[in-house]
Amino acid sequence: MRLSTIAGTWLVAFASQSVAVQLPEDHIAWGVGGKPVTLQRRQATSTSATATTTKVADSACTNGPLTRTCWSNGYSAATDFDAKWPTTGKTVSYSLTLTSGTCNPDGAGSRPCQLFNGQFPGPTIRANWGDTISVTLKNSLTTNGTGIHWHGIRQLNSVSQDGVPGITECPLAPGDTKTYTFQATQFGTTWYHSHFSAQYGDGATGAIIIDGPASSNYDFDLGAYPVTDWYYPTSWQLGIQAHNNLQRGSAPPPADTILINGTNVSPSGGAYAKTQNLTKNKKYRLRLINMSADNAIRVSLDNHPFTVITSDLVPIKPFTTETILLAVGQRYDVIFQTNKAVGNYWLRASAVAACASGNKNGNAQAIFSYAGAESGNPTSTAYADPGNCNEPTVLTPWVKNTVDQTAFMNQVGNLNIDISVAGTTTNGQNIVVWSVNLTAIDVTWEKPTLQYIKDKNTNYPTAFNLIEFPVVNTWSYWIIQEPANTRVPIPHPIHLHGHDFYVLGRGSGVFDKSTSPSSLTWENPTRRDTAILPGGGWLAIAFPMDNPGAWLMHCHIAWHVSDGLAVQFLESKDKMNLPGGDWDSTCQKWATFQATMPYPKTDSGLKFLLERD
Ligand SMILES: *[C@@H]1O[C@H](CO)[C@@H](O)[C@H](O)[C@H]1NC(C)=O
Ligand SMILES: *[C@@H]1O[C@H](CO)[C@@H](O)[C@H](O)[C@H]1NC(C)=O
Ligand SMILES: *[C@@H]1O[C@H](CO)[C@@H](O)[C@H](O)[C@H]1NC(C)=O
Ligand SMILES: *[C@@H]1O[C@H](CO)[C@@H](O)[C@H](O)[C@H]1NC(C)=O
Ligand SMILES: *[C@@H]1O[C@H](CO)[C@@H](O)[C@H](O)[C@H]1NC(C)=O
Repeated sequence: MRLSTIAGTWLVAFASQSVAVQLPEDHIAWGVGGKPVTLQRRQATSTSATATTTKVADSACTNGPLTRTCWSNGYSAATDFDAKWPTTGKTVSYSLTLTSGTCNPDGAGSRPCQLFNGQFPGPTIRANWGDTISVTLKNSLTTNGTGIHWHGIRQLNSVSQDGVPGITECPLAPGDTKTYTFQATQFGTTWYHSHFSAQYGDGATGAIIIDGPASSNYDFDLGAYPVTDWYYPTSWQLGIQAHNNLQRGSAPPPADTILINGTNVSPSGGAYAKTQNLTKNKKYRLRLINMSADNAIRVSLDNHPFTVITSDLVPIKPFTTETILLAVGQRYDVIFQTNKAVGNYWLRASAVAACASGNKNGNAQAIFSYAGAESGNPTSTAYADPGNCNEPTVLTPWVKNTVDQTAFMNQVGNLNIDISVAGTTTNGQNIVVWSVNLTAIDVTWEKPTLQYIKDKNTNYPTAFNLIEFPVVNTWSYWIIQEPANTRVPIPHPIHLHGHDFYVLGRGSGVFDKSTSPSSLTWENPTRRDTAILPGGGWLAIAFPMDNPGAWLMHCHIAWHVSDGLAVQFLESKDKMNLPGGDWDSTCQKWATFQATMPYPKTDSGLKFLLERD
């Protein structure tokens, strides 16, 4: 049995030390009612902004460099955005066309790409908190379907806009268009990407910025700063390799390089990303996004510590760190201060060996230059690499929430993540897949979950990995466990659609239910939409069942979701807003295309290609 070789080739070392962090001197105090009450000025050297500061939730004040916690009209960083958000009545509209072409981001040579509006990354979508976002997508590919998922967007009561082919929509056939419409009920930094098999690894990604308040002051917003692994073969080819490697018990192919803001230098050319003309003694906000297919990346700016102010779309109590680790799909907004000597400094992004990540061409670098710096590459020195795969331990949400633990012992569910044997090939070889509770997800593009709901058909195929919640407005709790004796003890970035989740705890080995719930965090736990399950360990999460829909929860490593690592939660199906409009015509066009499509579906349908034998 081929699985026996896996342990040797996949085992990776994990250091157990946590990321060193320290609170800035002028952090917030925590007051009555669990909300942050005192906000000290973080900056006196800066602009002439007239200031009021928000001290209580929903206070009325105006956003400015010295008052970033404020927003407007009674909304602020202290607003509980699950309960309340502005409705501006404004719609921001974008058009995205997906085309195939070539790209050469690091000078190593042209390769086929699938890009939105011919750009890599695609255009940044920018709106204000409370705006309606409307994006018309045209599929101008000739041989692939498509669909866009808006990562981290809650899609409250709008599940049909979540963009997951086979679950919330039929894929768009070549030539078809769809307009996605949803409200930005949260603010911060996120991204969109194709959720149709391999596409996002070939460049079909872009950033989303929703302007709103922030938990720390800054002068300038430098915007989105995507960091991604990059491969020279296409992700369709790599998906096959990754799957075949899994059959042989070896790791997926390493990335060729890392791109920062869409570029890097290779031995054959390319250019460093440059951020120039930084003014001395200002505070800059940089929105880091990990758009990788497989690789965790650690980011740092030489000599300039980061003050981290968000985890995904959640404002947090700011903390300062020299380096920050981003798992696939995760975002951190950071602030750095230009209080060092005028000059040029390297920003570094490196694949994290401790997260089982690696790339062939070493680390990526980009240049940050102060105004007046001499030209030439920086000579600055990197911070020490902490050498672990740990998320920061102090991701404390700015708005305090308590997770109700009363129903935990009765309602907690278990999900076991592991590789398993799904069958054998015609040659008698085992087919190894990634599974949740021994089932690898496999969606049907032509008949998505929402079609079953529309038809009131409850005969969901087993391979839908569908878990139904019958009741609304109670808490859902999950222990996601990688068995301690797994042959493949690697960390997985777990991402949930339709909700943020609260991270109640995580650890190595097997979760001990007998010591819970007291062993878990219930008061203001970390809240985000993507969190790392430690290799051979457990991750405990909770979320309120307050959003009717069919929500995918999956590992964001592209190869793993392709090979089945996902479940879907069906929540309050009787209260769901069913898709109308062009649902039927989208599905009809897809069915017509699928009948003769040149490349048949061979993976889970959610990400990369699965060669079944
Ligand atoms: C999508 O298009 C690429 C490039 O033409 C092809 O390699 C791949 O097999 C296609 N996949 C599907 C599922 O259509
Ligand atoms: C990233 O690249 C875009 C497009 O080239 C550019 O507009 C933006 O300023 C860059 N971001 C930073 C922080 O340098
Ligand atoms: C540099 O920044 C200053 C002040 O923000 C601005 O006036 C100037 O035009 C900028 N120069 C370049 C080359 O961007
Ligand atoms: C992106 O996430 C992947 C997978 O967790 C991780 O290996 C990689 O280091 C992350 N990249 C960054 C820049 O953090
Ligand atoms: C998954 O498997 C575990 C262990 O067999 C079991 O306790 C749990 O109930 C299963 N989860 C679901 C959602 O069926």
